[in-house]
Amino acid sequence: MPISPDSIERQSATNTLLFNAMVAVEEVRVTQDKLGSFPATLYQRIKPDALSLTHQAYETMAVVYDREAARFWRRFPLGFIENYRNHLPPNGRVLNVGSGPGWDSKLLSLTGLEVICLDACVSMTRLTSERGFTTVQGDFRRLPFSRGVFDGAWAYTSLIHVPKTEFVQTLAEIGETLVSGGILGMGMLRGSSEHFSTSYGMGNPRFIAYYTKPELMNALIFAGFEVVHYEKMQRVGTKSGRYHNIIARRV
Ligand SMILES: C[S@@+](CC[C@H](N)C(=O)[O-])C[C@H]1O[C@@H](n2cnc3c(N)ncnc32)[C@H](O)[C@@H]1O
Repeated sequence: MPISPDSIERQSATNTLLFNAMVAVEEVRVTQDKLGSFPATLYQRIKPDALSLTHQAYETMAVVYDREAARFWRRFPLGFIENYRNHLPPNGRVLNVGSGPGWDSKLLSLTGLEVICLDACVSMTRLTSERGFTTVQGDFRRLPFSRGVFDGAWAYTSLIHVPKTEFVQTLAEIGETLVSGGILGMGMLRGSSEHFSTSYGMGNPRFIAYYTKPELMNALIFAGFEVVHYEKMQRVGTKSGRYHNIIARRV
C-alpha cells in the first residue's frame, strides 16, 4: 500500500519511524542508479551506509575487479612482499583481511606463508575458495577469530573502505587477532579526503578514504602498532594510483 506523508502524520510514532527508514532505503537505491550525476554532498547524507554500498559494488563488479586485480598484482613490486615475509616465521599463518579475489594471497602463499582469506563479499569469498584458500566471509571490523591466532595480517587496499572515524578501532581489532609481535602488511591510498568514487567507469560507488603519511602513522600508534617499514609506491602507467606500503609490528 503506498504511504504518503499525510497518512503518516495520523499514524503512530512507530509508523513514522518505519516511513523514514523506507525513504532512506529508497534514497540509497536512487543514488546508486544515478551514480556520477550527484554531488558529493548527497553522498555525505548516506555515509552511514558507506560500507553496504561498497560491498554491493564489489558483488556487482566481481568479474571486472578480478581481472583488474590480476593486472595490478602481476606488476606489484615483489620486494615489499619479500620484506613482509621476512618479518614472519617460516610457514607463518597470515590472515588476509579484505582478500578480494585472492591474487595477493597467491603471492603470499608462494613465499611459504599459510594464508587464510576473509572478505565481506560472497562473490570474492567464492573466488578465493575456488583458488584453494581457506576462506571466511566476514566483516573485518568485527573479526570472528580468537585473540592471538595469527602470526600476521595482510590488508592491501581493503581498509581504504573504512570511514576514518572507524579506522583506529578496525586496526586494533586486527591487532587483537595477532600474536604479540605479530606483523601487519598494509597498502593504503595517498591523499587526505574520504568520499565515494565510481569504479572503472561502471557506476558502482565505493567509499574510499585517503590518508597522509602522518595520519597513518598516528593511527597505527593509537591502535598498538610500531611501523617497521614504510615506502611510497606509484602504480605503473597511472597518475592517480599513489600508495603507502607499510609493515608494522603489534607491540
Ligand atoms: C580494493 S579490494 C582489495 C582486495 C585485495 N586485497 C587486493 O588487493 O586484490 C578491497 C576488498 O575489501 C573487501 N572489504 C571491504 N570492506 C570490508 C569489510 N568491512 N570487511 C571485509 N571485507 C571488506 C571488499 O569486498 C574487497 O574485496
